[in-house]
Amino acid sequence: MFYNAPRTIFVIGAAMTVAKVLAVLAIVMTLSMTAFSVDKKPFGKADGKDIFLYTLKNSNGMEVEISTYGGVVHALKVPDRDGKMADIVLGFDNVDEYEKQGPYFGALIGRYGNRIANGTFTLDGKTYHVPQNDGSNALHGGKKGFDKRVWDAKESSDASGQHLHLHYLSKDGEEAFPGNLNVNVTYTLNNKNELVISYEATTDKDTVVNLTNHTYFNLKGQGEGQIVDHKIMIAADRFTPVDKNLIPTGELKPVAGTPFDFRKLTEIGAHISDDNEQLKLAHGYDHNWVLNSGGGKMALAAKVVEPTTGRVLEVLTDQPGVQFYTGNFLNGSAKGKGKVYNVRSGLCLETQHFPDSPNHPKFPSTELKPGQPYKTTTIYRFSTEKK
Ligand code: GLA
Repeated sequence: MFYNAPRTIFVIGAAMTVAKVLAVLAIVMTLSMTAFSVDKKPFGKADGKDIFLYTLKNSNGMEVEISTYGGVVHALKVPDRDGKMADIVLGFDNVDEYEKQGPYFGALIGRYGNRIANGTFTLDGKTYHVPQNDGSNALHGGKKGFDKRVWDAKESSDASGQHLHLHYLSKDGEEAFPGNLNVNVTYTLNNKNELVISYEATTDKDTVVNLTNHTYFNLKGQGEGQIVDHKIMIAADRFTPVDKNLIPTGELKPVAGTPFDFRKLTEIGAHISDDNEQLKLAHGYDHNWVLNSGGGKMALAAKVVEPTTGRVLEVLTDQPGVQFYTGNFLNGSAKGKGKVYNVRSGLCLETQHFPDSPNHPKFPSTELKPGQPYKTTTIYRFSTEKK
């Protein structure tokens, strides 16, 4: 065949140019993730230790501020459909307030998220008594849970986003739980507008673990009224009804035909005041939904849409349950970031194992043994919807 030298040289030249452009693009993309370093500023003191506030940013202008006290998501700035940013999470002004007050704003929750009846459970034939801090229940890990502990922190950035690596060693016997539990939680903010939380833990004795995050969202902006006009979808055909102490009865009840049916996007306030025993017990929604995914694999658990700003939150998790809580216990006594937090001014989607699982052998197990890794991920993904 006729050998066309100039054409071959041209093709090689063009290929090299494309390769160079691609290389430069790859460098620019990596730099765009790492160009801004993770900010770190002092945020007071607790337990005699300095507390810091870290700010992770992404290329869309989204920002998250996380405190080493309780691993608290202190602020989360997200664009609306017009690109206008607002802080959409409830929070206090300083560490002292986080230390004194009890709504668990933004906090990492452990060693056992949600309630353990009478603070009591039996493991390997031995009975343990976790301090009761919610009537007769142990709630969110006892009197001083992970939300009130100081976490070690290290920041990093790479092509997948900016990260904050938090570490806490919960000693054997802390809040009566057995085993030294070594906990690592990584927050990642990426350019897909996702806040990813990965939890890892190991133990040296059989124990129970149920970690989650207790951020209160208001997609209109923190302090901008109630969340009852947000719409929510929860990917669950069943929920776990509770008794008067908000402890699951053990039943997995179908949501069909009840105010707990959020299988299609529904306004939160549509049935919140219905004459329904479960809603009355909890003063609104404060229940665990049994996710259809069954847990063990990442799946969409819930979606929240705020019609006026167009902000959308999707929650993905590999956990079997999600506690949907409508801020029923807020009463205006909690104030922060220039706002007063009244009833239903925030909503929580706490991805988790079912409450009181250690006392319900039929619920998915929360036991962790030495040598077994505990590993779970939850993604809070933000986007917007047109009018
Ligand atoms: C969880 C519980 C609620 C309440 C809040 C914190 O969501 O299920 O009952 O305790 O935490 O106020």
